[in-house]
Amino acid sequence: MTSVTELRALANQAARRGGEILIEWRQKFETHVKGPDDLVTDADFASQQAIRDILLSARPGDSFLGEESEVKQVPTDPNSVCWVVDPLDGTMNYVHGYPCYATSVAAVIDSKVVAGAVYDPLRDELFSASRGGGATLNDRELHVSKTAELSNSLVAVSLPPAVDANSTDLADFIAVVQKCRAVRRTGSAALNLAYVAAGCLDAHWALQIHPWDSAAGTLLIEEAGGVVTDRHGHPFDVWQGHYLTTSTSSLFNELAPYLNVSKR
Ligand code: IPD
Ligand code: CA
Ligand code: CA
Repeated sequence: MTSVTELRALANQAARRGGEILIEWRQKFETHVKGPDDLVTDADFASQQAIRDILLSARPGDSFLGEESEVKQVPTDPNSVCWVVDPLDGTMNYVHGYPCYATSVAAVIDSKVVAGAVYDPLRDELFSASRGGGATLNDRELHVSKTAELSNSLVAVSLPPAVDANSTDLADFIAVVQKCRAVRRTGSAALNLAYVAAGCLDAHWALQIHPWDSAAGTLLIEEAGGVVTDRHGHPFDVWQGHYLTTSTSSLFNELAPYLNVSKR
């Protein structure tokens, strides 16, 4: 029987170590191009290696899905733990020295995220959660904001690396930016999600995202009392790659129509 508290402690340890590696590599990394406006660095690989080593030496029977893994397979065994890891969320920020990036480590069993951690090494902020065990920032318990109205909300969006001028992503951005206080695009989905859990963002959405971006952060929000759905307003599925998160259900009801969720 696997305890989610143990998985959380291991996620914390691995996320922290990955973050330390990112700091160590800051002055010496090389950058490679993955795709249009999509970069990867030596630091991404070094962080992933360190995180993987910690997780799999403690639990050799588990599976591992990292953004930088060569083979990316969704697990099929409903009884085993799959670690879903982004070793550097915010690579573009990291490359430019823009201080907004994190590691993200989550334990998933039978498609349910059961424990996770997001670590910001620049601020030494460890966001951590386990299912049923609450969410914390370092040692402080996290609660989402009480914001109920879109007109009072600070919202973030994560856009895909290459943005198309006619995309739904931009159409939704334009619709929402006119209705809330402001929309942020920080370049780190994992930190956006952590900030909704911490109450300093009121909502966050992404239409084209990956499990390693969303797994740990969506659990943080659920455990901090927020709302997490997929982009249609249906139950969130970690393997699907889209989400809408809000601090309150009233805010969800106001925001969802502007994201056109029912029409997709
Ligand atoms: C990116 C960030 C960004 C999001 C992109 C992701 P990466 O992850 O999460 O916020 O908008 O879609 O690819 O590439 O820095 O790990
Ligand atoms: Ca990412
Ligand atoms: Ca990444």
